[in-house]
Amino acid sequence: MVLSGKRILLIISGGIAAYKSLDLIRRLRERGASVRPLMTKGAQEFVTPLAVGALAADHVFTDLFSRQDEQDVGHIRLARDCDLVVIAPATADLLAKLANGLADDLASTVLLATDRPVLAAPAMNPHMWAHPATKRNVETLRGDRIRFIGPMPGEMAESREAGVGRMAEPLEIVAAAETLLSDRPKPLAGRRAIVTSGPTHEPIDPVRYIANRSSGRQGHAIAAALATLGADVTLVSGPVSIPDPVGVKVIHVERADQMRDAVLAALPADVAVMVAAVADWRVASAADQKIKKHPGESIPTLALTENPDILKTVGHHTMRPKLVIGFAAETQDVESNARAKLDRKGADIIVANDVSPATGIMGGVRNRVKIVTHSGIELWPDLAKEEVATRLAAMIAERLKQ
Ligand code: C5P
Repeated sequence: MVLSGKRILLIISGGIAAYKSLDLIRRLRERGASVRPLMTKGAQEFVTPLAVGALAADHVFTDLFSRQDEQDVGHIRLARDCDLVVIAPATADLLAKLANGLADDLASTVLLATDRPVLAAPAMNPHMWAHPATKRNVETLRGDRIRFIGPMPGEMAESREAGVGRMAEPLEIVAAAETLLSDRPKPLAGRRAIVTSGPTHEPIDPVRYIANRSSGRQGHAIAAALATLGADVTLVSGPVSIPDPVGVKVIHVERADQMRDAVLAALPADVAVMVAAVADWRVASAADQKIKKHPGESIPTLALTENPDILKTVGHHTMRPKLVIGFAAETQDVESNARAKLDRKGADIIVANDVSPATGIMGGVRNRVKIVTHSGIELWPDLAKEEVATRLAAMIAERLKQ
């Protein structure tokens, strides 16, 4: 239990997602953490300090100039007497303040004064998240080593609008906190890893594309597991609707050629794990304008051309990582196809899985894999994708030791 005995300072700022913070407090406490809540003025418009304090079983801090609080704890101690600071929800306003070093209320002052790791779970309207000012602030904060979980795509609570801006779910925030506080050994410290994940979208015209059912769950979990073991991870992700893993540098791309460029730019590395379900083909020349349907006219034919094989490129590269790992998503002859792939792609390990629709693996949360190497084959049981990732990361750490 990573969180057992850990002290969490939970900063709740003013957004409708604050209602989820009540549940977050329960989830953190269930895992043995103590939660000390701090609410901004805005937060108190959405949930009451009474509810927050009752769930946290602690005093709720709200005021920078409270003489009583200053006497009892003081804002500097508040900032330091914890193992982790979690901001949930983190509003655009609070992020902007922190990015610029403002300290005009208790939350911003504590955030400026803390020397503890900070995990932010942003929640805001999609336009606010997409605004260049917010983007700049988030970039600055990442540089300052503030970690982010979410925001997620989905429908907003306060409007019918959909987009990226919804706060991560309490359990996702808990998982991110566990990753940050994990004191497991770091056998991959100082090692660089590149992971690809998700599908690619290959445009047909400005509104249509070719894609596949990959969710990115397996690749993202591997990136997170490698980071937990201390690796410096670059995750190159195709379009997915799951959050960026915590503690990982994420490069978002759409097409296979962009994915290849991002992977090559991230070299050198000690290990490359190519999990993405890269489209094998793209439309030879995507149309600049939407292809229109005209009654009576013939149905258009799409001429395809081959996409770059990223795994093969990396496997035969002059800067080839010491360990190159590929996936083989097959619907038949899984083993023999995986063996053939080892040589063709220049890989050391192929993780083979049967993605026939009946298995529910593609897009699902569990996986049953076979680890194919030059020296044999290992069958792993049916596992959660996170568990496959943890085992694979341990295997990578073992192999890089040699
Ligand atoms: O040849 P196939 O697509 O079955 O190979 C799967 C493996 O190759 C996966 O590791 C996948 O990430 C990688 N791959 C790639 N670039 C492609 C196609 C597949 O990196 N264009």
